[in-house]
Amino acid sequence: MAAPSPPAPTAPDAPHLTPQLAQWTQALGYGPLYVRRALLVQQAPQAAPTTAPMATPATTPVAPAPVVAATPPRVIPPSPSTRSSPTPRSAPRPAVASEGDAARAEAIARMDWPALDAATQVCRACKLGSSRHQAVFGSGATTARWMIVGEAPGAEEDRQGLPFVGAAGQLLDAMLHAIGLDRHAQEPQHAVYIANVLKCRPPGNRNPEPVEVAQCAPLLQRQIALLQPRLILALGRFAAQSLLGSTAPISQLRDQVHHVDGIPVVVSYHPAYLLRNPADKARVWRDLCFARQVMTSAAPAQADAQP
Ligand code: URA
Repeated sequence: MAAPSPPAPTAPDAPHLTPQLAQWTQALGYGPLYVRRALLVQQAPQAAPTTAPMATPATTPVAPAPVVAATPPRVIPPSPSTRSSPTPRSAPRPAVASEGDAARAEAIARMDWPALDAATQVCRACKLGSSRHQAVFGSGATTARWMIVGEAPGAEEDRQGLPFVGAAGQLLDAMLHAIGLDRHAQEPQHAVYIANVLKCRPPGNRNPEPVEVAQCAPLLQRQIALLQPRLILALGRFAAQSLLGSTAPISQLRDQVHHVDGIPVVVSYHPAYLLRNPADKARVWRDLCFARQVMTSAAPAQADAQP
């Protein structure tokens, strides 16, 4: 008669290696390192931000904002016959962290702006570090209330070391101007800080890989923590899914206020997508007005609460 098989192992409830757990992990061929890593993640969740959300997301559905357009942008009216859906791709699931990754994330979480920028410039945490021309840290006033998060640098960004300076960037600038924002402004209410999920260009503008997202996540997390923006505008499915730890399509993530570490997040289409699908500019205009309304209502009592 065959011996009864042992009960299936489960994740340890407490950080103790019980004799039973040791027996199970040994039977499964896992050594003590496996156990230590699991406990490390349990004990230091902030130090190992390798689960899908970059921070702690939450969602508050709200009614779509009424559009109050003081300076309407030029939009091409939506035409169902020409409209197409956003590229159907999902943000990759970040890879599992090692102890070294956790230590690196802990160190990054203590950096100030100059240290964080310097660390990004010399980063070799993934293979993009050897194919990029330069890392693209981010740009804008560090007192900005608005934070824009895109996907990854393209060829022009890689050349100049600045985010959104190619064709998509020009469209982004126009979108921002339409709601009274300017990437070169210094006054907090008009300024924007722009960053990407990835700091280095994926060769050929291919999709980011899970390990690249995982290695870059602590950098973006620290940027958010230092900036403490009043609102994050996530542009494109990739930025939205990475920030929110979601696999939902962008159509489901729009028209809602999500939260990451208590900071409101509004989702819209990526400007590069809009260049290919100009009919969706009207939707983006609605998203921008919605974001502006969220920003305004986040600080109604303050005299300078203008977006
Ligand atoms: N697309 C992005 O998402 N970010 C950039 O910086 C440029 C293009």
